[in-house]
Amino acid sequence: MAQTARQIRLARHGTPDVLELVDTTLAPPGPGEVLLRHTAIGVNFIDTYHRSGLYPLLLPSGLGQEAAGEVLAVGEGVVEFQPGDRVAYAGGTPGSYASHRVMPAARLVPVPAEVPDEIAAATLLRGMTAQYLLKRTFKVEPGMTVLIHAAAGGVGQIACQWARKLGATVIGTVGSSAKAQLAAPWCDHVLDYSQPGWVESVRLFTHGQGVPVVYDGVGADTFDGSLDCLALRGTMVSFGNASGAVPPFSPALLSSKGSLFLTRPTLGHYTATREELVDTAADYFTTVIRGDVVASVDQRYPLADAAQAHRDLEARRTTGSTLLLP
Ligand SMILES: NC(=O)c1ccc[n+]([C@@H]2O[C@H](COP(=O)([O-])OP(=O)(O)OC[C@H]3O[C@@H](n4cnc5c(N)ncnc54)[C@H](OP(=O)(O)O)[C@@H]3O)[C@@H](O)[C@H]2O)c1
Repeated sequence: MAQTARQIRLARHGTPDVLELVDTTLAPPGPGEVLLRHTAIGVNFIDTYHRSGLYPLLLPSGLGQEAAGEVLAVGEGVVEFQPGDRVAYAGGTPGSYASHRVMPAARLVPVPAEVPDEIAAATLLRGMTAQYLLKRTFKVEPGMTVLIHAAAGGVGQIACQWARKLGATVIGTVGSSAKAQLAAPWCDHVLDYSQPGWVESVRLFTHGQGVPVVYDGVGADTFDGSLDCLALRGTMVSFGNASGAVPPFSPALLSSKGSLFLTRPTLGHYTATREELVDTAADYFTTVIRGDVVASVDQRYPLADAAQAHRDLEARRTTGSTLLLP
């Protein structure tokens, strides 16, 4: 039987006002596909890049990368999931801002009984991102001091706690004194990068040495300062553009700043195989179940108010993770 769904559609790129709520009818799941009823939908910064056109989409398009929910029906050949299963996903073709969705079964992961749907939906993408950044892009070892930007944000909150659990000393940056208070419990040292002097503070904190790695999801505004915080042969992990894309520069800059390494990773490339996806999600869920990482859902909006969620995220009014409720 055909399933009706409410979904957010994007007919053109632009400000949050371009987001429209529409009714649609879904075809039954085809071979290898699963019909889902979403119970909660994650809002990520990348959704704003898709909406604005910083990362252009083929239009018209759905929006959103992440959700949790219940399997309603499975298509031919799907053996890993059955109706009634609790599942989540993060990444792939945008379209999670919807009440129901047909998804490839290969993109889904099971949600353990101990993890609530809201946590899975709001934090799987950020949690898997923290997993690959800290354990695979640049491996955090006990005794290291690491710098993580936007420490009160969604990825930041998770990455800071996890890096500490791995034995690192964490310097976190934030954009206001209110966010500094919020991030204090999961950082050893919090700096406000809206004020001058944060690079010098990192240097002082590390006795002039600099840090072996910077995890930078802020982009344009912090890029140069981040390079100046690095130790000789340190690694710059530039994984996002919350303040805008990093402008082009000469590779010679990396040489003059200390033979630095630079990488611009993305989650899809670290969860490219089924095994990588399942293992990365399982590792994140295990840290949540153990209590090593406590991820908070600090904002909830009805699906119809997706535009407001985007306005708040882009205006830096959010902390932790953000949900849409279908
Ligand atoms: N490459 C990947 O695989 C991957 C995966 C997930 C996320 N990301 C990236 O990671 C970053 C964090 O993602 P998130 O979803 O967890 O977002 P978030 O950290 O919850 O929100 C972004 C934060 O960035 C800070 N920021 C600094 N300058 C900003 C500006 N001009 N405009 C807006 N925000 C600014 C703000 O914190 P302050 O107010 O404290 O400055 C803001 O709250 C994003 O860049 C995202 O694209 C990358």
